[in-house]
Amino acid sequence: MDPFWRGAGFGGIPAAVMNVSSPFAGAEQCENVLRRAARKVVRLGESEIVKRMRRDWDARALENAKYYVNCQRWEQGDDEFNDSAPDILARVRRDYPLLPPVAAKERRFLELGCGIGRLMLSLAGDCGEIHGVDVSPEMIRLGKERLAAVTHARFHLSHGSTLSQFEDASFDLVYSFAVFQHIPDRDLVFGYLDESFRILKPGGLIVAQLNGAPPAEDRLDTWVGVWLPEETLFSYAIDRGWRVLSSEGARTQYLWLTMKKPDIRADRNSIGPDVTVKAILGAQRERERLYHRGWAGWLRGDSRARLAGRFLQLD
Ligand SMILES: C[S@@+](CC[C@H](N)C(=O)[O-])C[C@H]1O[C@@H](n2cnc3c(N)ncnc32)[C@H](O)[C@@H]1O
Repeated sequence: MDPFWRGAGFGGIPAAVMNVSSPFAGAEQCENVLRRAARKVVRLGESEIVKRMRRDWDARALENAKYYVNCQRWEQGDDEFNDSAPDILARVRRDYPLLPPVAAKERRFLELGCGIGRLMLSLAGDCGEIHGVDVSPEMIRLGKERLAAVTHARFHLSHGSTLSQFEDASFDLVYSFAVFQHIPDRDLVFGYLDESFRILKPGGLIVAQLNGAPPAEDRLDTWVGVWLPEETLFSYAIDRGWRVLSSEGARTQYLWLTMKKPDIRADRNSIGPDVTVKAILGAQRERERLYHRGWAGWLRGDSRARLAGRFLQLD
């Protein structure tokens, strides 16, 4: 492994320390303190990591952008390239019914790591405005060229994990595919998730693919990025205030996570002990433990257990 990346899993704190086996473990508070400290540590080195991501992805875009976005064949025509989008987007579109109920033309979508706009082109017809951020100016240049005729599509340069160019509560949907799996630092991934929370409208969704598979090789760079166990993502979600609506593909490279920014007014009536509860944790024992703790606590008015409610899918 390039010594530069060693320990970058979470700001130099070994991944094992940061992996959370249970959101209610006794060390929960301590873990949160550690996590915040880790974020501070990593920020110091962030710009160097961002420079490397930009340099590497620019080089890939110049060499063969279509291949590095859709690694099926070295030579790809526009049709073959564009036709690879709908299958991926079926997973995103499946969650449309969970979006805030507004007309499609009023919706604003944002893609994290948009590349040359393969997915944006396909989703442009589903919303009134579509934006994409990418760390590589060359990818963005090509994307603008390809989507020149799509007047409501906009490309933006990203600075690694911030979305500072966007206002609070201004998007209905944030989505991402084949990006987080390449980011070599967990802190940057969580930075994007935090920023997505900020820019989503209440009730807005993030639908994202992350790498949930333990690494097969001892390598961490801008191609082989970090992996994130489902438990760590759940713990983060609770900490940040997301409602996890679904999680699929735990322990695979294609872990798809859908999280909602709570809309306190709209959600108020949907939460309560009389609704059917479907826990989403991977381990059955954990599921049952949460179920009982969550709802027993709910009846007691225990605020920590209320947080557990965010962890449960309510039908
Ligand atoms: C495999 S491509 C996928 C592109 C697009 N999501 C798609 O599926 O068509 C990965 C993209 O993520 C971008 N990327 C990598 N690290 C990033 C980061 N930290 N922030 C934003 N974009 C990033 C790369 O520049 C590249 O365009």
